[in-house]
Amino acid sequence: MVALALGLALGASTLAQEGRASEVVDLPEPAMDGGMPLMEALSQRQSQRSFADREIEDEVLASLLWAGFGINRPEEGERTAPSWRGSKETDIYVARADGVWLYDAEANTLTRHIEDDLREMTGRQPFPADAPVVLIYVADRTRMPEAPAEQQYLYAHVDTAYVSQNVYLFAASEGLATVVLGNVDKEALAEAMALGENQILTFTQPVGYPGQAGD
Ligand SMILES: Cc1cc2nc3c(=O)[nH]c(=O)nc-3n(C[C@H](O)[C@H](O)[C@H](O)COP(=O)(O)O)c2cc1C
Repeated sequence: MVALALGLALGASTLAQEGRASEVVDLPEPAMDGGMPLMEALSQRQSQRSFADREIEDEVLASLLWAGFGINRPEEGERTAPSWRGSKETDIYVARADGVWLYDAEANTLTRHIEDDLREMTGRQPFPADAPVVLIYVADRTRMPEAPAEQQYLYAHVDTAYVSQNVYLFAASEGLATVVLGNVDKEALAEAMALGENQILTFTQPVGYPGQAGD
C-alpha cells in the first residue's frame, strides 16, 4: 500500500527540501521468528560480491531491515542492535533501481528520499550496481549530543558494524549474498543524497541473491 503525505519526509530529503510530496510505502510485517539456527548462520556467514539478476521480495526486505536495526522490544522501543547510550543514531537508507528510501523502524515503512538510482555510487568496485538493494548506513550526530565530535565519529562506525553484522547473519540464514563496504566515495555519495553536516555516512552494504561467481 502506498500512502502519500505532504511534508512527511524524514532526514535531509531532497524532495522535502523542494517542498514536494513525499512517498511513504508500508513494508510487510517482518518475520521475527524462524530462520536458521544461530550457530549454523555463523558457520555460513561470509562476504559475497556477485549478485544474481533477481529482486529481493518485499517480505524478505522487511525482515532484513528488521534484523538489521528493527524494534525487538516494542514497550521500550529498543532495537536488534546495540548503540552508544541507546542513541539509535544509525539510519538505514535503501538504494534500489527506483531511488533511495529511508527505513522507519517504528512505522515499518520506507520513505522516498531521492528518486535517482544511486547504486553505482555506493562502492568504488563495480559489483554494488548489480545488487537489487544497497543499504547505506548514515549516523545522525544530533542523537549523540553528549559525545565530542571524534567520539561521535567512532561510535557512528562501531554502531553501524553491529547493524551490518545482523544483516550478514540474516543474509546467511536466507541464502542471500552481502558484503559491507568501506571503499566508497563517501563525500560524493553524501552529496548525491543531500545529506546534512550532522550526518555521517559510515558504510554501505549491497544485498541480493548470489550470482554465478560465488564470491
Ligand atoms: C570495515 C570493513 C570494510 C570493508 N570494506 C570492503 C570493501 O570496500 N570492499 C570489499 O570488497 N570488501 C570489504 N569488506 C569485506 C572484507 O573484505 C571481508 O570481510 C574480509 O575479506 C573477510 O571475508 P569474510 O567476510 O567472507 O569473512 C570490508 C569489511 C569490513 C569489516
